[in-house]
Amino acid sequence: MTIQATARLERATRVRAEDFLCAFDAGGAFPDARPGQFVHVRTPADLTLRRPFSVAAVTGRGRFELLVRKRGEGTAALLSLPEGAEVSVLGPSGNGFGLPEPGERAVLVAGGIGVAGLRHLSRTLARDGRRQVVLVGAPTATALLDGVLPGPTTDGAVRVEVATDDGSRGLRGTVCDLVGRALEETDAPARVYCCGPQAMLRSAAGIALAAGARCEALVEEVMACGIGACRGCVVRTRTGYRAACADGPVFDAAELVFDGEERA
Ligand SMILES: Cc1cc2nc3c(=O)[nH]c(=O)nc-3n(C[C@H](O)[C@H](O)[C@H](O)COP(=O)(O)OP(=O)(O)OC[C@H]3O[C@@H](n4cnc5c(N)ncnc54)[C@H](O)[C@@H]3O)c2cc1C
Ligand code: FES
Repeated sequence: MTIQATARLERATRVRAEDFLCAFDAGGAFPDARPGQFVHVRTPADLTLRRPFSVAAVTGRGRFELLVRKRGEGTAALLSLPEGAEVSVLGPSGNGFGLPEPGERAVLVAGGIGVAGLRHLSRTLARDGRRQVVLVGAPTATALLDGVLPGPTTDGAVRVEVATDDGSRGLRGTVCDLVGRALEETDAPARVYCCGPQAMLRSAAGIALAAGARCEALVEEVMACGIGACRGCVVRTRTGYRAACADGPVFDAAELVFDGEERA
């Protein structure tokens, strides 16, 4: 159920450079978001449109976190708010990720700020004692968002691998170079969850699907209404155009037609 509520900013913690983890309390009536769902926030700037952000964690009844990267006017205004300020939020919106079935390995693939879209999922899997392989990519070691996703555990339930374009941490290459390797490790069925730039989604999804894995991709389309009314956020799928806000933002990657790609 999506509702409109007033949320109080409890604190904003800098994770790195322009990225902040913002904790909100929207009150006990605000429904818990599922992993992959988002909230649509009216920023304090004088802007007509709300701005969408993945729910990065649910920390209590009506309490949630957003990982916000400062980009333009809306995010700058949001991040300039003092603690205790109130904003209007619409949510939780969208469909969210499907959880892995028993016996399925979860492979999470995050590019850059894409860790925001996978954080709630990763924490949920960790809480439920599910095994997960977390693959994270960034241009350089300093661009990695350390501490946003759960770290590796000694029992191997959470394994983390990193790739950087310049090789300053982990594998030299892209996060997609890690996907094939992770899938080849065992014959156990895997479900791959991706969030990041479109080129990364396309590549990671291609590798996952070629390996026979199920794959879900969270697409970050620019949104206007956020409720399926304006058709401003449509994505192409094998069965026609779908609204990312109402039919997504998580799609079965096998159904998506990425830019420049033709599918029968
Ligand atoms: C489902 C969904 C989940 C998202 N989750 C997060 C998140 O967890 N953390 C986060 O920091 N950002 C997230 N985004 C992106 C976020 O919505 C944009 O960064 C934000 O709207 C930019 O607003 P602005 O006013 O600061 O920038 P604007 O001035 O509107 O734009 C500045 C730059 O951001 C780009 N931009 C604007 N809107 C989007 C958008 N919706 N997606 C991608 N790029 C955009 C513009 O092309 C421009 O280059 C998400 C987007 C979607 C659709
Ligand atoms: S933003 Fe209006 S239909 Fe999705």
